[in-house]
Amino acid sequence: MNRVTATSVEWVALPATVRAAVEEQAGPVLSAEPHGDGRNSPVRLALETAQGRVFIKGTGPDDLERRRWKLDLGAKLSPYVTRIAPALLWRVEAEGWDIAGYEYLPGRPWASQHPGSRDVPKLVAVLRELEEIPAPDVLDVTAVECWGRYADDLSVLEGDAFVHRDPNPANFVVSDDRAWMVDWGWAARGPAWLTAAQLVLSLMEHEWEAGAAEEAVSGLPAWQAADPRDLAAYGEINARMWDDYVRGNDDPVDNYRAGVAHAWARHRAELAQPSP
Ligand SMILES: Nc1ncnc2c1ncn2[C@@H]1O[C@H](COP(=O)(O)OP(=O)(O)OP(=O)(O)O)[C@@H](O)[C@H]1O
Ligand SMILES: [Mg+2]
Repeated sequence: MNRVTATSVEWVALPATVRAAVEEQAGPVLSAEPHGDGRNSPVRLALETAQGRVFIKGTGPDDLERRRWKLDLGAKLSPYVTRIAPALLWRVEAEGWDIAGYEYLPGRPWASQHPGSRDVPKLVAVLRELEEIPAPDVLDVTAVECWGRYADDLSVLEGDAFVHRDPNPANFVVSDDRAWMVDWGWAARGPAWLTAAQLVLSLMEHEWEAGAAEEAVSGLPAWQAADPRDLAAYGEINARMWDDYVRGNDDPVDNYRAGVAHAWARHRAELAQPSP
């Protein structure tokens, strides 16, 4: 089931001072197109400039603090993830707008996560590279902060690994030979298996059976090392978070995703049963 996405503000709708500040960095803009899918960034444009292409992502003066914070975290983490993500080229602030310019990645600005998709091994390869990157000090948000209120035992969420909380299709760019992961405002410090667990959930949201989705990530060292009791506990934590999110909310996509969270929690609870 596809998530709802929001369209980007048009380039010409940005204040002239903001456009001038961007052009000072990127060069004169020849054309601009809304690019890719997402929900949070009101500015999400591919700019064709005299110096080449650039992807810009930004927040405006009326944006929620949460969105500004995500843009900021993504920009701060950029130097640490250049092996698997586009490099931040510059950042400008003007009239309450905060615009980050990233190297433009050639490729499809989304991954297919449907069963049988040839993109999935590329996504798993990115997760394997992520496992090798130590969480930098600037990454101070933790999985405990994100999910802790739904946990009986916080130790399940503790860890020092570099985690991406949202490996959904639109947070990847895919080319013929590889994938890149974007949107590092969704990073957290937590258990090393957590990104893989989130990818399993995202695959299940795209019609995979739980066992097959887990098989797809089974080559990841962090997944192999995960304690099945922790995965079962996380399944429950995540299902509780979704229950909370959909209480009084009849959005069909959110409710579908909550159902997937429960399906994975049941699958993990069964696997965690001691064999008779
Ligand atoms: N450097 C880039 N080059 C090309 N495409 C990109 C680049 N960075 C992101 N994209 C694509 O642009 C879209 C939006 O990117 P991103 O996820 O960073 O912002 P967002 O979705 O608005 O944020 P959120 O997921 O928090 O709503 C995605 O479809 C992504 O694949
Ligand atoms: Mg995104």
